[in-house]
Amino acid sequence: MQIRGGVHGYPVVVATGLLDQVGTYAGKHLGRETCAIISDTNVALLFAARVRKSFTSVALRPTLITIPEGEKSKTLSQAGAICDQMITAGLDRHSFVVSLGGGMIGDISGFVAAIYHRGIPHVQIPTTLLAMVDSSIGGKTGVDTRAGKNLIGAFHQPSLVIADVDVLKTLPRREFNQGFAEIIKHAVIANAKMFRTLRTWEASDAPALQRLIKRNIEIKSRIVAKDERDRTGERALLNFGHTIGHAIERAGNYRTFLHGEAISLGIVAACTISMKRAGLPADQRDMIVDLLCRFGLPTRLRPKFPRKRILSTIKFDKKFEGGKIRFIVTPRIGAAYAADNVTFDDIREAVEQL
Ligand SMILES: NC(=O)c1ccc[n+]([C@@H]2O[C@H](COP(=O)([O-])OP(=O)(O)OC[C@H]3O[C@@H](n4cnc5c(N)ncnc54)[C@H](O)[C@@H]3O)[C@@H](O)[C@H]2O)c1
Ligand SMILES: [Zn+2]
Repeated sequence: MQIRGGVHGYPVVVATGLLDQVGTYAGKHLGRETCAIISDTNVALLFAARVRKSFTSVALRPTLITIPEGEKSKTLSQAGAICDQMITAGLDRHSFVVSLGGGMIGDISGFVAAIYHRGIPHVQIPTTLLAMVDSSIGGKTGVDTRAGKNLIGAFHQPSLVIADVDVLKTLPRREFNQGFAEIIKHAVIANAKMFRTLRTWEASDAPALQRLIKRNIEIKSRIVAKDERDRTGERALLNFGHTIGHAIERAGNYRTFLHGEAISLGIVAACTISMKRAGLPADQRDMIVDLLCRFGLPTRLRPKFPRKRILSTIKFDKKFEGGKIRFIVTPRIGAAYAADNVTFDDIREAVEQL
C-alpha cells in the first residue's frame, strides 16, 4: 500500500516471507547501492544474515552495524557512534539507512538517516508488533536524554517500510502483547469495527494478523497525514492513553512496565475521565478494559505503586491553564477528540482508581 507522507509518500509492504526479498524492494525503489543496516544484538543474531544476503544478491553493498539491545542504547552518543562507523565504511549522501529491529532501532536509525549528510533515505524493517503498527509509520525519529524520552529528534519520513509478519514468531509473548495496547488504542479512537474484530480474536489466525497490521498502518497514517508535523492537533489523537501512560512508565523508572503496558493503564484512566467529561457509557468503558485484559495487558496498578509520582510528573510536564489541560477523550468506541475541560482533579481521581 502507498502511504501519504513526506514529499511523495512511501510504500508499505506487509506480508510473510519478505526478509529474503528486502534487497530487491530496496534496490528497485531507491536506486542506490550502498547502505548501513542498523540492528540490535538480539535481532541481528536472528535475521541480519538473511537480510544482508538479500541485499548482496542484488548487488547492493550493505554495512552491518549492531548496537546493544534495549532502550538504553537510544542515546545521542550511540547515534554519533553509528555515524562514525558509517563514515569509516565510506557511506555518503548517496547511501541509505536500513533499520532492522523494533521501535528502539527504528527511532535511532531514523534519526541517523535524518542527520547523516543532512538527510539520506531510511528503509524500515520493523521486527516487533509495536514497530509494525506504530513506530515505523509517521516519521518521528529521535533519541532519549537523561531528562526524558525522545527529547532530541527530527521528522524524517521513511522511504519504504517492509513488515515481514513471520519475524513475529520469535518475539517474546510480553513484547507481542504490548503491541496490542497501541492496536486497541487505534480501535478506540478511530475504528469501532476493528474493536469488534478484536473481541473475538483468535491468536493462531496468521492471515488475520496480517490484515490487522495493515489496517492499523492505515489508521495511523491517515491521522498522521492530516498533521504530519504534529501542529494542528489532529495527530494528538494518537496520544490517547499516553498522558497518564507516559507518567506511569516514568514512575516505574522505565523498568516496571513496557511502553504498551503503561499505555494500557493510561487507556483505562483515560476511559474513566471520558465517562465523566465526554459521556462515554460505562458499558463501553468495561468493554475496553476487558479487551486489554484479553491481551494480557495490565488494567490495575498494584496497591503500593507510587501513584504520587505519576501525578507529580503530569503536573510538572503538562501545562494546566486555569487548572485545565487538553486531554484526549473518547465519547464512544471509534471516536476521540481533544477536550479542554479536563482538570487535574479528574486525573488524580482516575489514577487513584487504577
Ligand atoms: N517513532 C514513533 O512514532 C514511536 C512510536 C511508539 C514507540 N516508539 C519507540 O519505540 C521504542 C519501543 O519499541 P519496541 O517495543 O519495538 O522495543 P525494542 O525495539 O526495544 O524491542 C523490544 C525487544 O524485542 C527484541 N526484538 C525485536 N524484534 C524481535 C524479534 N522479531 N524476535 C525476538 N526479539 C525481538 C529487541 O531486541 C528488544 O529486546 C521506544 O523507544 C519508543 O520510544 C516510537
Ligand atoms: Zn505509544
